[in-house]
Amino acid sequence: MTTINRLSFPAALAATLALAVGAPAFARGPVPDPAVKDFQRVVDASYAKYKDLKDGKNADYIPILTETPSDLFGVVIVTKDGKVYSAGDVDYVFSIQSVSKPFTAALVMSQQNPKVLKDKIGVEPTGMAFNSKLGLAVYEDSVNPLVNAGAIAAVSLVEATSEEERWSKVLQNLADFAGRPLTVLEKVYDSEYTTAFGNRGIANLLYNWGRLYSEPEEALRVYTKQCSVGVSAKDLGVMGATLANGGVNPLTKKQVLPAKDVPELLAVMATAGFYDESGDWMYTAGLPAKTGVGGGIVAVVPGRFAIAAFSPRLNEAGNSVRSLNAIRDIAGELGVGVFGANPN
Ligand code: DON
Repeated sequence: MTTINRLSFPAALAATLALAVGAPAFARGPVPDPAVKDFQRVVDASYAKYKDLKDGKNADYIPILTETPSDLFGVVIVTKDGKVYSAGDVDYVFSIQSVSKPFTAALVMSQQNPKVLKDKIGVEPTGMAFNSKLGLAVYEDSVNPLVNAGAIAAVSLVEATSEEERWSKVLQNLADFAGRPLTVLEKVYDSEYTTAFGNRGIANLLYNWGRLYSEPEEALRVYTKQCSVGVSAKDLGVMGATLANGGVNPLTKKQVLPAKDVPELLAVMATAGFYDESGDWMYTAGLPAKTGVGGGIVAVVPGRFAIAAFSPRLNEAGNSVRSLNAIRDIAGELGVGVFGANPN
């Protein structure tokens, strides 16, 4: 009985969040954006507050990530019209890792439709770690595109006739969201692919269950390349601002994701973007977001702007400690949680 309650709760939460995210603050009348000086003030304040915080440690299960200087830290807001407010190391290029996942899910939505994502992968938060094999076994028929299993499945769903084409579509889509060409950090790819035994197991299990839609090693390679793409915190801000702007990149004006599909994507980010910390994150910050073990996080204020941050030290759930604190403070200071201002 307990199990049934535990499994059905995320569905109710997802439905509630989908409503809230789909009908953001302007449903109650237009809310003026914070003044420009407020954006710069809150970015500077969060940077100053957390720059000396040393909690957590670099990811080490991908060996090369231990080599990223741990003290790097950058915070940025990018508005839906492309204005940038930043502090710290916002141009340093690091591997995007799991922050890539919602954007490839968006590609599957654009090529096909949100229902494909729901039916062929699932949209249930697992409440478990990003690489959990137990979560995959429990939710054999429905994980979500933000945990490793669902993200590998999303890559396999990208419409392509060859591995090269699959990869070029995935990369081009990430670049379209960032508004500039992006490339793979080859050393990160080598380090991750040569140690990807867990993800290979996940890909093979999915294939065995009929929940992977390309050859497993191909999906694993393209997924690992996707995670190794180099981005800056500023790039993540532009990617998030594209979602805030109804799927239109504020720099290039390209419609990267149909506006009608943005609410579904933000709902998955709200329920699963922080993995087994998603409840805590929504409780305290109230924004759809995505994290990565490279140290990046992007959060979206629907219809308005994105807040992104980068710092390599992670907590137990694999989420950047300084980044999550900085973004949560900014959301609270500006009063922009999707359920209403949450200054606590
Ligand atoms: O597959 C992996 O384990 C990594 N490429 C991505 C994991 C990740 O970023 C989890 N996020 N916090």
